[in-house]
Amino acid sequence: MSDLLAINNLTVSYGAGSSAVDRIGFGVDRGSVVALLGANGAGKSSIMKAVAGLIPAQGEVVFEGENIAAQPARARVARGIVYVPEGREIVGNLTVRENLVMGGYQKPAAERKRRMDMVLDLFPEIAEKVDRSAWRLSGGEQQMLAIGRGLVADPKLILLDEPSLGLAPLLVRRVFDRLRKIREESELAIVLVEQNLAVTMRLCDELHFLRGGRIVGHRTAEELKDETARQEAIDAFLGAAAA
Ligand SMILES: Nc1ncnc2c1ncn2[C@@H]1O[C@H](COP(=O)(O)OP(=O)(O)OP(=O)(O)O)[C@@H](O)[C@H]1O
Ligand SMILES: [Mg+2]
Repeated sequence: MSDLLAINNLTVSYGAGSSAVDRIGFGVDRGSVVALLGANGAGKSSIMKAVAGLIPAQGEVVFEGENIAAQPARARVARGIVYVPEGREIVGNLTVRENLVMGGYQKPAAERKRRMDMVLDLFPEIAEKVDRSAWRLSGGEQQMLAIGRGLVADPKLILLDEPSLGLAPLLVRRVFDRLRKIREESELAIVLVEQNLAVTMRLCDELHFLRGGRIVGHRTAEELKDETARQEAIDAFLGAAAA
């Protein structure tokens, strides 16, 4: 049993017809990185939003031993679950600093300040621009701000939805290097959604492969160390032959 998060029989249905997420279960240990890999529409974002309490779902979401499935998103943030949505969703006409303050709205001012200093230390690119409107940041800087805003909340679990989306390879590397640094220095656990397996492998401990709202395969990062094993997993779980 995983010691931080365990989801059981998680199902998300947006309406009539088949479920977007169909009786999924997996666990996340403290300080570990679990990646969800799958094609467009496989259900990755739906799983994350359900864990964060942002959409209705059936099943169990057990966090630190307690089923929080009935709790609203706000209560889950207070417990330490933070979702960083795909497409960044920072507030463009607020400054960088104001965006960061929003991330820590549930924290006492002194602690929020400490967390913000930590985030700005981690992302010097945005530290130079704290009083600028967020829309004036580059795409990579906006992504750093979105992740940074999540970190101000002092999460135990951060759900990162395609942090590399729309970023140049150099910036992807930079963002992932920072994430690795955070991991080395804290007990933060990450659920990571990425389309790109190579990028995912730089950070994760284990991977779940998703298709049509179901988990169809599981591998540890160790098992996917060599190129052949990676290609085999892609062919088996995501490739055309597996459809
Ligand atoms: N708000 C919504 N209303 C209705 N259907 C939705 C909604 N959001 C997602 N879906 C459907 O649920 C399924 C899973 O979507 P989801 O966004 O979880 O996939 P995803 O794996 O994150 O895909 P992507 O890689 O494109 O982001 C898809 O079939 C999608 O069309
Ligand atoms: Mg998605």
